Amino acid sequence: MTLRTVLLSLQALLAAAEPDDPQDAVVAQQYKEHPEIFRRTALHWTSVFAKGPKKDKELEDKVASLKNMGFEECCSERWIIHNVTGLRANLEQKLYGQHLVGKVVANHIQAHVRNKNPHKALALSFHGSTGTGKNHVSRIIAEALYKKGLHSKNVHLISSTKEFPHQEMLPLYKDRLRDMIEKQVKICAQSLFIFDEIDKMPSGLIDTVKPYLDYHEHLNGVNYRQAIFLFLSNAGSNAIIKHSLDHFREGKRREEIQLVDMENILAKAVINTDTKGGLWHSELIAKHLITAFIPFLPLTRKHVQDCVRDVLVTKGCYRRPKEVSQYTVDNVLKELTFNSGEEQLFSVTGCKRVAEKVDFVMLDSCKVEL
Ligand SMILES: Nc1ncnc2c1ncn2[C@@H]1O[C@H](COP(=O)(O)OP(=O)(O)OP(=O)(O)O)[C@@H](O)[C@H]1O
Ligand SMILES: [Mg+2]
Repeated sequence: MTLRTVLLSLQALLAAAEPDDPQDAVVAQQYKEHPEIFRRTALHWTSVFAKGPKKDKELEDKVASLKNMGFEECCSERWIIHNVTGLRANLEQKLYGQHLVGKVVANHIQAHVRNKNPHKALALSFHGSTGTGKNHVSRIIAEALYKKGLHSKNVHLISSTKEFPHQEMLPLYKDRLRDMIEKQVKICAQSLFIFDEIDKMPSGLIDTVKPYLDYHEHLNGVNYRQAIFLFLSNAGSNAIIKHSLDHFREGKRREEIQLVDMENILAKAVINTDTKGGLWHSELIAKHLITAFIPFLPLTRKHVQDCVRDVLVTKGCYRRPKEVSQYTVDNVLKELTFNSGEEQLFSVTGCKRVAEKVDFVMLDSCKVEL
């Protein structure tokens, strides 16, 4: 067959269609049973794809609404992707210095999302000093579970300082929080709630979440067990730093710090914390409704160096982290403070201010400004 003969056949078929031997049975049926709609549709497609003279407004609207139906985010497998393999890989590759976090978080998430009928909602409490990766991990989780990551309609990032700043408004905040959770879980059972800076939340507010974390099968006809709650705070961070420093001074490797030791230290420290917000005296702890306490260790020079390299790659200055020279990395590190005893072991702000310091050192170019 040559191109010429193909085009001739097409021309012949367009001039005299053969609905009894069709390429597309639905179109053939329309051709036979509703010739007027067939003609209108053919005219419309000709105008859209072959620059024909006349577009059909009504058909155009119908096509648009069909497209929207398919692309609008909803609570379905198309949008809730549960990419546990990707989650593990990203936690391994993109999270530095947190050997107590990656595997444990991935295991809990995997066990929860693979179970169609879990016993209770998953509640993970992330603790650690500033810039150690609590929001970073929350983002990695959101991106692995939802196609639109943190921008998903089913992911709710709640900033305590922004949304609940005043202790005296506690009753109002409680109603607001309850309404929000109930509404969102009704819309999608597999919702993710990230409570940021809960140590800055008015004392007693977090207990509003208790019924939704408990082992109830249904609450007013709604099942909350598939939801995931992440609680992020600095509570207990001093205890984590102290234990990490003691461990270092005993001459042991960081990777030998055990999760059970940290969890015990953390559980005590969180209950007896100086700040009275967040989980302080919370029923979530008293009733054992938190699935796991996850300690984020303070970051050392080596980890911050990795963050510097990542930022430079993200900025487009280098293609791969290992291409960044030690000279460049050192210049950024000079701008950051390390303390915790005379060893100056840990970065005071973790990796948090790295991006801003890179901008300061490099200014507008990709070269260190001398
Ligand atoms: N352990 C880490 N590994 C890789 N990158 C990290 C790590 N910790 C922090 N970062 C980087 O630093 C940025 C700031 O960290 P993040 O917002 O996660 O800190 P945080 O623990 O939530 O701190 P805060 O208590 O101040 O809220 C992240 O967006 C990420 O780019
Ligand atoms: Mg944070």
